Amino acid sequence: MKSKSGVSRRRVLQIAGASAAAAAFPFARPAIAQGAPLKVGLLLPYSGTFAALGDAITNAMDLYVKQQDGKLAGRTIQWIKVDDESAPPKATELTTKLIQGEKVDVLIGTVHSGVAMAMAKLAREAEIPTLIPNAGANVLTRAQCAKNIFRTSFGNSQPGVAAGAAMIKAGIKTAVTYSWKYAAGDESVDGFRQSFTAGGGKIIKELSIPFPNVEFQAGLAEIASLKPEAVYSFFAGGGALKYLKDFHAAGLNKSIQLWGPGFLTDGVEKAAGEAGNGVKTALHYVESLDNAENKKFRTDYNAAFKRFPDVYAVQGWDTTMLLDIGLKATGGDIAKKDDLYKAMRNAKFNSPRGPFRLSASQNPIHNFYLRELKNGENVFLGVAATDVSDPTTGCSLA
Ligand code: BEZ
Repeated sequence: MKSKSGVSRRRVLQIAGASAAAAAFPFARPAIAQGAPLKVGLLLPYSGTFAALGDAITNAMDLYVKQQDGKLAGRTIQWIKVDDESAPPKATELTTKLIQGEKVDVLIGTVHSGVAMAMAKLAREAEIPTLIPNAGANVLTRAQCAKNIFRTSFGNSQPGVAAGAAMIKAGIKTAVTYSWKYAAGDESVDGFRQSFTAGGGKIIKELSIPFPNVEFQAGLAEIASLKPEAVYSFFAGGGALKYLKDFHAAGLNKSIQLWGPGFLTDGVEKAAGEAGNGVKTALHYVESLDNAENKKFRTDYNAAFKRFPDVYAVQGWDTTMLLDIGLKATGGDIAKKDDLYKAMRNAKFNSPRGPFRLSASQNPIHNFYLRELKNGENVFLGVAATDVSDPTTGCSLA
């Protein structure tokens, strides 16, 4: 089975700037002197419930590089793609394949927090420059931070904290949580619990279902009997779409507000149809942001892929932007790691999501927006919080 990015399940594929030259001169001078391509390993989901997320990230990265004539800082980019299937048990083998087998210069991955934690362990040991374009596992930019690991997406608690505070502001006093049982769902709920209970809200019950199960009926039946004012849910990708439809089909939307991090609706806005109407979320991106970078990105992405970008595409774009900034500081020489990391750590740029910079633990400091899904579009309701930084607890990169 192939994803939209054309990656066969678990197959490694080289897609740009194939290195016939490198094959012809395997022993000679350093790669940069020969103008050899920079090998960038992409460990992303191209199948399963998060396949569309991996595709969106890949599309945006490819678009960025194509707009620079296939190069970053003068180096031709050679993507080496691996489908991680959002399967943590496969993560060690697949990451090893990229680092030791393919000998990639840079590692970019991934979407699923569990896969990312296994990947990051090997990346830290190998000291390979690594960029995380989605997975929000808190620990990666807290106690397990590392100078070679940069995240361009978010920490899992961040959208939960923003949503919980917004729910209090909206006058909601009781809630049930219903989420996937793994790091992303647990930490999203942790963030929500923190701000919702601090504001005087009461969580009646915390429900969960193993990832990537989508048999939501038992949980929805329990929610119906508990009768909270609102539900806070973390689901994403294909699972989120099924959840929105099931929540609506059960008639819960008539009496219970559905809230969550923006992953609940991003990428599935149109497919959700009527079932998505009224779902409120907090996220570091919303389609209608009125800045020049967002307008250009949306136009270019739509022209290239015949669909508009979502938050995952924005994160892919920012990942490539950050790598580009780092590489430019080294003249394209990935071996100059101190210069590379210094430039990336200090990068500040205007992203389609708004102003972007990194915290001391190399996680984004960015704005959070409140949105409501209406007729296939996340409508901007207001800025939930500006310059939000995740705690850097346990991290020291000095
Ligand atoms: C995660 O596993 O960290 C994650 C997956 C999808 C959306 C957001 C977070």
